[in-house]
Amino acid sequence: MSETVHVGSGKVRELYALDDERLLLVASDRISVFDVVLPTEIPDKGRVLTGLSGFWFARTRELCANHLLAIRDDGRSSECRKLTMLPIECVVRGYLSGSGWKDYRETGEVCGHRLPEGLRESDKLAEPIFTPATKAQTGHDENITREQAAELVGAERLAEVERVSIELYLSAAEHAAGRGIIVADTKFELGLDEDGRLVLADEAVTPDSSRFWPADEYEPGGTQPSFDKQFVRDYCESLGWDKTAPGPELPEEVVAGTRERYLAAFEQITGIPFDDYAADPEVVLG
Ligand SMILES: Nc1ncnc2c1ncn2[C@@H]1O[C@H](COP(=O)(O)OP(=O)(O)OP(=O)(O)O)[C@@H](O)[C@H]1O
Ligand SMILES: [Mg+2]
Repeated sequence: MSETVHVGSGKVRELYALDDERLLLVASDRISVFDVVLPTEIPDKGRVLTGLSGFWFARTRELCANHLLAIRDDGRSSECRKLTMLPIECVVRGYLSGSGWKDYRETGEVCGHRLPEGLRESDKLAEPIFTPATKAQTGHDENITREQAAELVGAERLAEVERVSIELYLSAAEHAAGRGIIVADTKFELGLDEDGRLVLADEAVTPDSSRFWPADEYEPGGTQPSFDKQFVRDYCESLGWDKTAPGPELPEEVVAGTRERYLAAFEQITGIPFDDYAADPEVVLG
């Protein structure tokens, strides 16, 4: 580790350069809500994110190459290929929720997709839609149309990105459905390697990058219970917090409830007890 150089901090991850071609991504236990990092951490959250991402990287390799080289013994650090990241967030929605629901209610469209009238919050869409967003350096990501996204990455590249993102979503959603979890939506980050090949990077289909709903409680027409940050979001909103920094401290029961949801998502999707992952992180790759 002595030769690694710290090259950046995201809201959740610390980035180190291992050499010219490789990065070490270390997922912390930090949690961000409405794009604000809270002062309280969720124990084991970083390991859940790294483990779940590894699980999906191993299972989607045929659909798209990915950046993962190895998961380290601490379970939170992954060695990755360094890429040139595309300047868009690749969001796929199978259900109408969050900002997709908000945009639909206001305009009948989501990122330029005109949807049928009369859809309810959390309704399943006839087909998943690709709804890109900007990568805001500060503040909130903003939904954009595919035409706007094409201006950022090129029309041909965008067509490839859209196709790959939808294939990745469908594959993950199908696996999760078999384990009682609806992946309502998810965000991928894609980059290019030295040869200009598209590579899946960052984290993949985790509770931070997706909405996970318990399938047996699914009931469209309102918000859904979830395995993700919704629990923390609801707590923060109940305080009347204005969603600007600094965020509120979380009480013990909210920390415990959130940790439980992250672990449950990991175990239900992978079928691997979290303790087994902690003992040997590479089990998720098998
Ligand atoms: N293989 C890779 N090569 C280069 N950059 C990567 C790679 N994988 C992930 N990244 C970048 O590393 C960062 C991960 O940090 P983190 O997830 O904490 O960021 P974030 O808060 O979600 O977003 P931001 O970086 O915009 O603050 C992201 O900026 C992501 O785009
Ligand atoms: Mg991120």
